[in-house]
Amino acid sequence: MSWNKHERLEKNSLLLLGFIIVVVLIGGIIEIIPLFRQETVIEPVEGVRPYTPLELAGYNIYIRENCMACHSQQVRPLRDEVVRYGHYSLAAESMYDHPFQWGSKRTGPDLARVGGKYSDEWHVAHLKEPRDLVPESIMPSYEFLMHKGLRTYDMSEHLEALKALGVPYTEDMVKYAERDAVIQATGAARADTSGLEERYGEGVNARDFDGQKHMVTEMDALIAYLQVLGTMVDFKTGDNEEEATQ
Ligand code: HEC
Repeated sequence: MSWNKHERLEKNSLLLLGFIIVVVLIGGIIEIIPLFRQETVIEPVEGVRPYTPLELAGYNIYIRENCMACHSQQVRPLRDEVVRYGHYSLAAESMYDHPFQWGSKRTGPDLARVGGKYSDEWHVAHLKEPRDLVPESIMPSYEFLMHKGLRTYDMSEHLEALKALGVPYTEDMVKYAERDAVIQATGAARADTSGLEERYGEGVNARDFDGQKHMVTEMDALIAYLQVLGTMVDFKTGDNEEEATQ
């Protein structure tokens, strides 16, 4: 009976191919369509905020210099990774990255939790000449970032573009983007950071990141970005810490 019908299918490769395509399509639709509704996939997590304009500029430099060629930004939920890098990455932590920087190549270590791991001075010295700190390092030198003034005049447009993609930048954030960037790279000792903190929270790092007081450089932006990576969610309170050690 029906076995014979199946035999027909098995003996006719074109017919079989047709049926395979139909079955794969059905499976694909069931798996993929729900993912387009992002809010059902990513659970928002407390503490995750959009990047400040300075951090966003650093993120853009990170992309321009293709740091992702050697560095991933995803701690996988495997014991060895969690022990080495800290709590595994949550989807919400990169929900405002367009495009995300998860990467897959680890010539150097994962950077998803590098924020706060080293001092700004360490980053400056390391980015200038990695071999001064890690003699066997094959990371390129990025000393030129110290001498490149940060382009700030189009920051509002960057925020505006991300806003169109769903990143919740407010009108004030867009309006004061350039000012916020300069103030964050100057720090509370020499500038009024109250507006910046009002918009991005009190925990925002505002200081002279590259140690050159006279100018805001690409190095300031890149280090501001590195120092915030993986620090927005507080894993020391609540249930999250238990999860990390399991
Ligand atoms: C050719 C590969 C390569 C590229 C490109 C590269 N790195 Fe690295 N990076 C490494 C290697 C290897 C190490 C480990 C040795 C060291 O610390 O220098 C490293 C280490 C680091 C560390 C220290 C991480 C830790 O936890 O100790 C940071 C931060 C870092 N890189 C940032 C960057 C940034 C930012 C860029 C882009 C501007 C970049 N890297 C580009 C290879 C690379």
